[in-house]
Amino acid sequence: MNLVIVTGASKGLGLSICKNLLKNNYKIIAISRTKSKQFIELMEKYNEQLFFKEYDFNDIENIKHLVKDIKKEFGTIYGLINNAAVGFDGVLGTMHESDISQLIRVNTEAPIILTKYISRAMLVKQKGRIINISSIIASTGFNGLSVYAATKAALSGFTKSLCRELGKANITVNTISPGYMSTDMTSSLQGDKLETIKRRSPLGDLAQVEDVASMVNYILSPDAKNITGANFTIDAGSTA
Ligand SMILES: NC(=O)c1ccc[n+]([C@@H]2O[C@H](COP(=O)([O-])OP(=O)(O)OC[C@H]3O[C@@H](n4cnc5c(N)ncnc54)[C@H](OP(=O)(O)O)[C@@H]3O)[C@@H](O)[C@H]2O)c1
Repeated sequence: MNLVIVTGASKGLGLSICKNLLKNNYKIIAISRTKSKQFIELMEKYNEQLFFKEYDFNDIENIKHLVKDIKKEFGTIYGLINNAAVGFDGVLGTMHESDISQLIRVNTEAPIILTKYISRAMLVKQKGRIINISSIIASTGFNGLSVYAATKAALSGFTKSLCRELGKANITVNTISPGYMSTDMTSSLQGDKLETIKRRSPLGDLAQVEDVASMVNYILSPDAKNITGANFTIDAGSTA
């Protein structure tokens, strides 16, 4: 059973990725600060396949110890899904600098450092799949999301160069850029604004967490062995 690390697994997209991968026979190390009720139920159902590590990605220093512990306890890591993120919004001129720092730390620095240590282990095995969850906002822009957008654009750039470093070792690195999905992160966007996003998309709909989870499953599969450095947009066509 291949082992996959999913960050930000307690709810939203991360939880959906776990559900999909568990059904497809992956063993999962789920990382987040808390466990939601739904996550606990999933752990009970898949008690031999789903494991939890509590970690706050504001703590960059100890990421190396987290990876060391995981390797010691679970062995070879096949996949890494860098999904955890915060989505603070605000006009740049009035945004607290602590929020700016946290966005950069959790959304960009932490996944880069986590990838550093996990890719080392993958290099030894000459095998691996890394997926960075970005956002369509990285390339389209959105009023009030400049810092969030910067953190997500950084991940796309990270993918493009890292895939060149790791390709020879049979490790793929890809980005998935979802459009608006209904999760806790987007709970403040409701009503007319939401209907407008839906109406403007070619499919008249929104991407759902399950759509993105299916793409994660595909990228991890043997069928995707020759796909690297790519960016998959999943947004019901909103940015077409
Ligand atoms: N929702 C959208 O419309 C949308 C669109 C495009 C891209 N995305 C991207 O999709 C990914 C998932 O977003 P989502 O909508 O599922 O958000 P969400 O529902 O808010 O979930 C975020 C996850 O990240 C974890 N997390 C946040 N801060 C953390 C920290 N400091 N340390 C460890 N874990 C942390 C949370 O767990 P804890 O709180 O328990 O730590 C949670 O499991 C993100 O990368 C986001 O940028 C979302």
